[in-house]
Amino acid sequence: MGCHSSKPENVGHPMRGMRGVAQVDHLPDDLASELVQHKVVADISEVFEFHEELGKGSFGRVCRATSRKSGKIWAVKIVDMSNELDKSSLLNEINIVKRLQHPNIVRMIASYEDSKRMYMVMQLVPGHELFDHLYKNNQQFTEAKVRKLILCLLRAIAYLHSNQITHRDLKLENLLLENENQPTSLKLCDFGLSKFFKKGERMQKSLGTIDYVAPEVLDGDYNEKCDLWSVGVICYELLTSKSPFHGDTTDETMGKIFDGILPSFFQADIWKTVSPDCINFIKSLMQDDPDERLSAEQALNHRWMRTPASGIIDENKRKLFLKMVNFGKSQNKLKNKAMLSMAMGVSEEHCKPEIVSEVFHSMDIDKDGTLNSTEFCAALEDYGIGHDEAMDVFNRMDQSKKGKITYIEFVAAVLDEFGEQTMKEAFSMLDAEKTGRISVVGLQSVFKHMQAADLQEMVASADIKGDGTVDYDEFKMMFQQTPRTGPSVAAVVIAERTASRIGELNGFMLPPPLEKEVLSSAQVNLQVEPIRHT
Ligand SMILES: Nc1ncnc2c1ncn2[C@@H]1O[C@H](COP(=O)(O)OP(=O)(O)O)[C@@H](O)[C@H]1O
Ligand SMILES: [Mg+2]
Repeated sequence: MGCHSSKPENVGHPMRGMRGVAQVDHLPDDLASELVQHKVVADISEVFEFHEELGKGSFGRVCRATSRKSGKIWAVKIVDMSNELDKSSLLNEINIVKRLQHPNIVRMIASYEDSKRMYMVMQLVPGHELFDHLYKNNQQFTEAKVRKLILCLLRAIAYLHSNQITHRDLKLENLLLENENQPTSLKLCDFGLSKFFKKGERMQKSLGTIDYVAPEVLDGDYNEKCDLWSVGVICYELLTSKSPFHGDTTDETMGKIFDGILPSFFQADIWKTVSPDCINFIKSLMQDDPDERLSAEQALNHRWMRTPASGIIDENKRKLFLKMVNFGKSQNKLKNKAMLSMAMGVSEEHCKPEIVSEVFHSMDIDKDGTLNSTEFCAALEDYGIGHDEAMDVFNRMDQSKKGKITYIEFVAAVLDEFGEQTMKEAFSMLDAEKTGRISVVGLQSVFKHMQAADLQEMVASADIKGDGTVDYDEFKMMFQQTPRTGPSVAAVVIAERTASRIGELNGFMLPPPLEKEVLSSAQVNLQVEPIRHT
């Protein structure tokens, strides 16, 4: 019947020969990617306690592991150093993933090697593969749920393509859920076959997983549009539990892919319940001719993808904007960088990912997965903040000074709940020398592009004991200090605007009476909520 009973095979052997180390031309290091450090260790078991296997693909196995230092649980991808192909594949993956900051892409926080193996440490995505949900649990996905999943996937792909990265192995096994009941918690993983491309470049190596590959990939002449074909296949499969081109043999599958969409494709009963917009969407992605196929950005603008304006986003923007206008105002220079490392390692449940990511995406007008100053200021100005003040907030949040705010920089500015384990991990990211103290020398090996004077200032700002370093107690104290400034003009403007709409809102940030008090006394701390210890 063409259903999967097992995982699809990769397309022949050509793929194995091409997995080299990526050339990183297009996505230079920023502060967040510099935090992702590679360490050579004598014995990995001193760093992690390994638990059960979470999954296995063609190149590596992924295990759950607990950090011995922080107690935090991660997913660790492991490959044997003795296998050159697997090793170079993981190096390729590490080179790409360490630079990726997107709510729908698995986040990497470190890599290690010992004499036998190489390890990529990632956030744990515990809600399983979509493959398991569909085929092992026989879960039925409604059109509405599929739409949300595909929206998240397309956002991740639009981000990748705008950074000139093509994934080339999009399939249900590489799509994980953070929370199995929450489709917007989708995370794309497995960048082993990903590649940086140059604009207009054609790729030749036939690779990927046969059920999902585009016809031009089989022909060996393609570009990044091949990813969009796979999205069409995934969408079809999620709705029908049937892989559209699956044949009993690889040759049969290839034949079906070259035949393309047949009239029989949309004749099963299930399609009577699916909207014409959705069917049109799938057809626009399964176009044989890549030039006729939608790009990721066009697919996000397709009628089926368009989201109605949501009052919930509006309401949450208010809360997040209040935090942003206060971000980075403290005199403590280390704190902003610490917030970045905190954002890298934070468990998603601490930062209410669906809220933060939806607000982020609602501001990202060109859908490239980052916020430029025009997008950012327009959103803040909409809430009554003047252009100059909005620019000021932008400059504080744009910690890498690249003229855009990445998702990690965004999370860093709005994060207000994190556990002790996350704090320990963040400390350890900044304590690159693993001496138990943050020092100028240690910071220099992390933030290679920063001036020594700035690093000295960073250390001094948190060095309460005056010994030239910051120990964990001093680090923790940074987050317990209340800000020295009162609420900014912008914070009051947002609160005022909100107060005028208070009837429509349900007091997301503060209950209404208190909010009125903010306006009269301007004394309430708008920034800090208590740290939740886990
Ligand atoms: N961060 C993660 N959290 C939880 N499970 C994961 C994570 N990364 C990978 N896995 C599981 O491990 C499997 C194999 O990982 P993957 O990166 O796809 O390796 P391969 O390149 O060998 O296919 C995935 O299909 C998934 O089930
Ligand atoms: Mg995989």
